[in-house]
Amino acid sequence: MPRLLIIHHTPSPYTQAMFEAVISGATDPEIEGVEVVRRAALSVSSSDFLEADGYLLGSPANLGYVSGALKHAFDCSYYQILDSTRGRPFGLYLHGNEGTEGAEKAVTSITTGLGWVKAADYVAVSGKPSKEDLEQCWNLGATVAAQLMEG
Ligand SMILES: Cc1cc2nc3c(=O)[nH]c(=O)nc-3n(C[C@H](O)[C@H](O)[C@H](O)COP(=O)(O)O)c2cc1C
Repeated sequence: MPRLLIIHHTPSPYTQAMFEAVISGATDPEIEGVEVVRRAALSVSSSDFLEADGYLLGSPANLGYVSGALKHAFDCSYYQILDSTRGRPFGLYLHGNEGTEGAEKAVTSITTGLGWVKAADYVAVSGKPSKEDLEQCWNLGATVAAQLMEG
């Protein structure tokens, strides 16, 4: 069964709300035959990356970049997964209160290096997530999961 791996750093209630909305979309009953696995960014292993077929990344923007936790996930696995995960789809959600551009750029750079394929527009939320923001998160989860459904 195809597997979607959600790699997230979730340090606050707002990031938790976004994470839950993404999971809810990814596990919608209409999306059949896709296993959704979640890993905290500080605990994800190279095997987790290799055993997945697509990825959802979630992080706060910190100091103009992704969280150290998400960076750590890639620092530890980059060369182990390089060339073995090329072409796989991914999505990204970010929470930041002062601008997420640097974090978006960082993820684009990392995933371009890995050869991953952006499967949906990035979702970036500032402040308390609105109903529409959480719908966007839901759609992100559903969109990336649906791409893994076997035709
Ligand atoms: C050390 C530190 C650096 C941060 N840098 C940024 C940043 O560069 N851009 C940004 O949009 N938010 C930044 N933030 C805000 C975090 O993204 C925010 O705290 C996180 O998304 C959780 O949101 P919340 O605290 O409102 O729940 C920073 C927060 C901390 C603690």
